[in-house]
Parts: sequence; structure tokens; C-alpha cells
Amino acid sequence: MNFEFTEEQLAVRDAARDFAQNELLTGVIERDEKQIFPAEQVKKMGELGFMGMMVDPKYNGGGMDSISYVLAMEEISKIDASCSVAMSVNNSLVCWGLEKYGTEEQKQKYLTRLASGEVIGAFCLSEPEAGSDATSQRTTAEDKGDYYLLNGTKNWITNGNSAEFYIVIAQTDPEKKHKGINALIVEKGMDGFVVGKKENKLGIRGSDTHSLMFTDVKVPKENRIGEDGFGFKFAMTTLNGGRIGIASQALGIASGAYELALNYSKERKAFGKEISQHQAIQFKLADMATSIEAARLLCLNAASLKDQGKDFVQAAAMAKLFASKTAMDVTVEAVQVHGGYGFVKEYHVERLMRDAKITQIYEGTSEIQKIVISRELLK
Ligand code: CAA
Ligand code: FAD
Repeated sequence: MNFEFTEEQLAVRDAARDFAQNELLTGVIERDEKQIFPAEQVKKMGELGFMGMMVDPKYNGGGMDSISYVLAMEEISKIDASCSVAMSVNNSLVCWGLEKYGTEEQKQKYLTRLASGEVIGAFCLSEPEAGSDATSQRTTAEDKGDYYLLNGTKNWITNGNSAEFYIVIAQTDPEKKHKGINALIVEKGMDGFVVGKKENKLGIRGSDTHSLMFTDVKVPKENRIGEDGFGFKFAMTTLNGGRIGIASQALGIASGAYELALNYSKERKAFGKEISQHQAIQFKLADMATSIEAARLLCLNAASLKDQGKDFVQAAAMAKLFASKTAMDVTVEAVQVHGGYGFVKEYHVERLMRDAKITQIYEGTSEIQKIVISRELLK
């Protein structure tokens, strides 16, 4: 492993850092409080090439590697995790799968617009009765010859209202269990497709999380991704890469909180000296910095394996498991370092603490990551 970054990677990191500081910081508290989706900011991220970072430039992508993606995700997540989850879903769960498994027609019609950030996408696997237990989903895609008839409900869908295109995972042949599932591209506005209620959440409150209802939606056969029955494998393979994105989001939330705590500890005085001069605070900073460094190395390791075309399933699950725990631990301690000021909105750390929790839940809970890791260890 060699994580000496190239000039290009450093330029991407710096561009993401500048963008986050200059364009995301202002208004982040209000967006959180009022649950405002950062539409304008996401549009600008598209213009800067952050919405389709790893996609081939011939489909309007940035042609960058996964290391650059980790670096950019960390910087954006330090300031606004509601923006970075829109970015992560579009890059990892929507663009990646379309580029890897889509037909040339699907790439021209959908990927080119998603990768440029002109529109954004959503990935729809979870259901009211099937989250971790993803094979037991009930949404059906009945084969009607030249189209599928889609019926069911998807829950908790990120970019649920803002997306234009949705990748929906649905059961076509229940007898074949997970081998009877398909992945379909659904367009907003198709007859019978309704965006349901927006969730009022603990964290990432700017992100628009919605349920989606499908009633007799006719999805043309040419909108199926991959062979008949490939949908579940498609979802699992896509999520492997997605977990690098969410691990990097967790890393960013942790490092954002740590930087705030470090700076605050050098300004705040108690008992005649800066609180950073008290060993109890120094030890907290040391623990935070150590966990963050370990999380960063796990993220970069998974990204590097992916870039080399090597198996990264276990590495991505380890990165997500560890980085999301780090995000929780570090944000709680960052609030503590701030004392009472940490408990109010102006100092940002309380929001980062609320945002951290979701990284242990979506794209596979921490318990699911342990299942993935242990299966890899034992196989
Ligand atoms: N990579 C590739 N293939 C995988 C895989 C992986 N990580 N995990 C499982 N598979 C394949 C298996 O090989 C198997 O295929 P074959 O029969 O062809 O070999 C098939 O999937 C079924 O696997 P299992 O028998 O292991 O299935 P299972 O029912 O025991 O469950 C699981 C496996 C790992 C628990 C899986 O259901 C899972 O990952 N659950 C979590 C779901 C999840 O992460 N949801 C996230 C939704 S998206 C989201 O959350 C976005 C966001 O917030 C922003
Ligand atoms: P459950 O599966 O019911 O789990 C409940 C608890 O039981 C958890 O602690 C879990 O770890 C534990 N558990 C379950 N099974 C096991 C087991 N076998 N062993 C040990 N413990 C177990 N989904 C999408 O498809 N697309 C999205 O864009 C998306 N965005 C989301 C955004 C937000 C804000 C949220 C909250 C969720 C989002 N999700 C999305 C859904 C998310 O992926 C699921 O919530 C997650 O996979 C967990 O599923 P569940 O909520 O049904 O919990």
C-alpha cells in the first residue's frame, strides 16, 4: 500500500475542501433545521464533476479513481453530510452500476445525464418489511412480454423526491428466490409511480428520504439492467462500492468534528489555561486522531483494491464498520470538548453527532457488515 497522493488526487481534495468551505458552510444549520434539500449546492457539485467522479469522460464523467472519491467525500462530509449522501448515492449506487452493467442505450439515455449532475438518481432496495433481509422483498415486477408491471412500496429512499431516475430492485419470479429478482430503471413521471411522504429524521435532515409507491407501472424491458434474474447480485455488487462512499462519509463527519474540537480546545480557557493544556482533553484528541487515521487508511485501502480490480468486499465492509463507529465515538467526544457550547447548534458538533448515527444504519447496518466480514473470513 502506498498512499502518497498524486497531484491530481490532491487537486480534487483541495477543490472539494474549497467548495465545502465556500459553498456548503453557509446555510448548513438552516438546511438541517428546516429539512431543506441542498438542490442548488448539488447542482454546483455536478458542475464541478463530483456527481459522476469515476465515470468515463465519454459518458460525461470525471474519469477519476476511487482514491479521489474518498478524498472528496471526506471533505464534503466534514461540512454537510446531507450533500455527501446525495453525492455518494449518485456516484456509487446509480452511476457505477449503470456504467458497469448497463447497455449502451441505457448509458446514453441515463448515465450521461446522471454523471454530469444535470439530474440525480436514487437506488431503491429497502422496503417497509425488508431492510437488512433484502432477499425477502415484496415489490413485484411481473414479466408481461415487452414490459414489466411494477407493484409495491420502497422505503427510506435517499434523493427520493429530487431524483429523476430510479434503480428499483423487484421480484419477478418468487420461486427462484434471489435469482428471480430484477433491477429496473424507472423514470419520474411514469404512470402509477408516486413519491410518498418525506421522513422527519434525527440527522442528515437536508437529505430527502421518501417512500415510493408503484402501482401497475409499465417499465419497458429495455430498462432492465443485466440479464433476467441478475437484480439481487447487481444490488449486492453495487453496495460493495457504495460502502466505500458511506465509510468515507463517516470519516468526513469524524474529521470535521475533530477539527472543530481541536480548534476550540486551543481557544477555550478553564482554570487559567487553554483546555487543550489539560491532559484529559489532550487524551481525547489523541484518541480521536488515532481512530480517524485508522478509518482513513481502511477507506483508502478499500478504494485502492477497487481501483486495482482486486476483491474489495471485505475491505469495504471493514472500512464502513470501523469508520461509522469512529464517527459516533469522535462526534460524542467533540461535543464533550465543547462543553455546553457543544450542545447548541451554532457550534456544528451537535449536528455532526446526529448525522454520524445514520452511517451505522444505511447501506447495511454494522451488524450486517459483521456478517459480510465473517462470511469472507470463513469462506
Ligand atoms: N457481493 C456480491 N454478492 C453478494 C454479496 C456481496 N457483498 N453478498 C451476497 N451476495 C450474493 C451471494 O453470492 C448470493 O448469490 P449466489 O447465490 O449467486 O452466490 C446472493 O447474493 C444471496 O446471498 P446470501 O445467500 O448471502 O443472502 P442472505 O439473504 O444471507 O443476505 C446479506 C445477504 C449480506 C445480509 C444481504 O442481504 C445484505 O447486504 N443486506 C443489507 C442490505 C443493504 O445493505 N441495504 C442497503 C440499501 S441502500 C442504502 O441504504 C442507500 C443509502 O442509505 C444511502
Ligand atoms: P432491520 O433490517 O429491521 O434491522 C433492525 C435491527 O436488527 C438492526 O440493528 C439490524 O442490524 C439488526 N439485524 C437484522 N438482521 C440481523 C441479523 N441477521 N443479525 C444480526 N442483526 C440483525 N435503502 C435503500 O434501498 N435506498 C436508500 O437510498 C436508502 N436510504 C436510506 C436513508 C436513510 C436516512 C435511512 C434511515 C435508511 C435508508 N435506506 C435506504 C434503508 C437502509 O438501508 C435500511 O434502513 C437498513 O438496511 C436497515 O434495514 P431496516 O431499517 O429494515 O432494519
